[in-house]
Amino acid sequence: MTMSIPEIERTLGQLRLSGARDTLQTRLQQALVSQMPPAEMLAVLLQDELDHRHSRQIDKRYKASRLDEKTALADMDWSFNPKVPRAACFELHTLKFVAEGANALLIGKPGTGKSHVAKAVAYQAVQQGLKVAYVEADADFARYALADGRSRELQLQRLLAADLVVLDDLFLARRIAEAAAEFLQALVHQRYRKRGSLLVTSNRVIEDWGAYLGDATMASTILDRLMHRCRLLQFAGKSYRLKEAAQRLAIKDSAD
Ligand SMILES: Nc1ncnc2c1ncn2[C@@H]1O[C@H](COP(=O)(O)OP(=O)(O)OP(=O)(O)O)[C@@H](O)[C@H]1O
Ligand SMILES: [Mg+2]
Repeated sequence: MTMSIPEIERTLGQLRLSGARDTLQTRLQQALVSQMPPAEMLAVLLQDELDHRHSRQIDKRYKASRLDEKTALADMDWSFNPKVPRAACFELHTLKFVAEGANALLIGKPGTGKSHVAKAVAYQAVQQGLKVAYVEADADFARYALADGRSRELQLQRLLAADLVVLDDLFLARRIAEAAAEFLQALVHQRYRKRGSLLVTSNRVIEDWGAYLGDATMASTILDRLMHRCRLLQFAGKSYRLKEAAQRLAIKDSAD
């Protein structure tokens, strides 16, 4: 029985081998012009299928993480801000802290790249096959405070099931609702018990967390667990946002 090429493509689709289906025509032409042995042609086609599945899995994990952008450490201009702890950022990017069940706390001045580095580490974890949950602290906590009991439970379960949870921009709006503070406490306590890593970024000094939580005891129990096994990265220096704003102004001025 012979099949036409469109029939083979259809069959590959039915067999859920869409990676091989998509490259079939190219590989057939390649085999013809380079006189490829049939076994080699089959091997490259199967590799196309594997590559396709791998990138689809990464896409799925990226979507599930709820990261809002794919950042990389390579995009950081390290010379702009020598006070950013470069070596410690690369060390985090190795994800050893996740394997060890340790936490990471990125604290310091606005616009110095804490969120950028946190997202780069989170995206690296996605690419390495880890289950990541990214939380934009203020917005997600505000939504949490308005949610019903069932939805709150689901949100907590999602974060407990992840290999790495990123809490980005914690206390940006200073005070958080009482329900959100309790959620934060439950999250930190339960992940600590399971040795699940948390990566937190904040431009608020730790000493003020009690005031933002509205409860000094709660703040110390949260910090106690967070800091027990923790990489602490201090970000100092100038804001990259201000640099970009100044450049925009300069361009505007020269155009006027
Ligand atoms: N050294 C850098 N090189 C290149 N881009 C940078 C650098 N630092 C920051 N940025 C960029 O500047 C913007 C602000 O950085 P980011 O959001 O990471 O700062 P942040 O420390 O989290 O600030 P905040 O405390 O206000 O949340 C982002 O677009 C980021 O990509
Ligand atoms: Mg930030």
